[in-house]
Amino acid sequence: MSNIKELDLGPLHDYYEFEHAVSDFKASVIEGLSSPQKKLSSKYFYDVRGSQLFDKITELPEYYLSRTETDLLRIYADEFAELIGEGSSLIEFGSGSSTKVRILLNALQSPTAYVPIDISREYLIQSAKELAVSYPDLPVVPICADYTRPIKLPFIPNENSRAGFFPGSTIGNFTYQDAVKFLRTVANDLGSGNGLLIGVDLKKDVKILRAAYNDAAGVTAEFNLNILRHINRALGVDMDPNEFTHDALWNHEKGRIEMHLVSKCNQTVYFENLEFEFIEGESIHTENSHKYTIEGFQSLAALAGWEACKYWKDSNNLYSIHYLRVV
Ligand code: TRP
Repeated sequence: MSNIKELDLGPLHDYYEFEHAVSDFKASVIEGLSSPQKKLSSKYFYDVRGSQLFDKITELPEYYLSRTETDLLRIYADEFAELIGEGSSLIEFGSGSSTKVRILLNALQSPTAYVPIDISREYLIQSAKELAVSYPDLPVVPICADYTRPIKLPFIPNENSRAGFFPGSTIGNFTYQDAVKFLRTVANDLGSGNGLLIGVDLKKDVKILRAAYNDAAGVTAEFNLNILRHINRALGVDMDPNEFTHDALWNHEKGRIEMHLVSKCNQTVYFENLEFEFIEGESIHTENSHKYTIEGFQSLAALAGWEACKYWKDSNNLYSIHYLRVV
């Protein structure tokens, strides 16, 4: 981990960066395109444009997740603050635009620091600076990292405890096994006795789910295709976004929405000295979004060393927020 000094930190208290956030990109793309079912890791959605498109998704009428989660955060903010306790530092995994966290920060009693962690460097720094301006008394310490890897959190003077914040049902973007592994890592990052507030999307009518990932305005399609633009630009690949279409399907057996980019024709993608053949209709699998029942998620959390203290859901049973504590 390096503490970057040459950067203009402006209102930021400090900034850290993990090497691994950039170094594995190429190997992961080659491996993904070489698999029988081609795939690209969803972490590469989030360049600046990808992060902006995702923000647009959160405002779509079909995308009930963000709206419902935000409502729950507003309604129960004081209760969350009570559970997290006074003088706690708040660590957000995958902080993006750091919008939702403001609801929580406004309710917390004398938080000692806000530590947003995100893989998208520019977007992270920009969002953290905006947040630091709104909360001049709160030390804001962004970390650019792939948060699925273990992270040694910076020392925060005078903190009573640490609390994790993982909204957006991003936990659903992991396979079951990876979700367990990730939650174990977070338990270690935070340390025993500390809490995690986590948003989890619930199983429901497939029509509602499909619409949420196939919006009428085509923003999700644009977001999905942007992964190709990001990879092309970053690595010099020549995948043509016009030759692929967005598809989101419900995999009943696995209880998840799957996002794919389907090749419109037979084509070859060239990358350095490698060639990747696509036949018409063949897809690149770009994302999973697993949906849980309350009990299903609680038993996953238990496997990863967390005690499920309490959960909240909306009256339509669309979405849940859980407060977990490291055993
Ligand atoms: N965590 C979000 C979800 O599973 C991520 C997401 C929303 C997403 N829409 C998307 C990822 C579209 C890829 C494509 O809902």
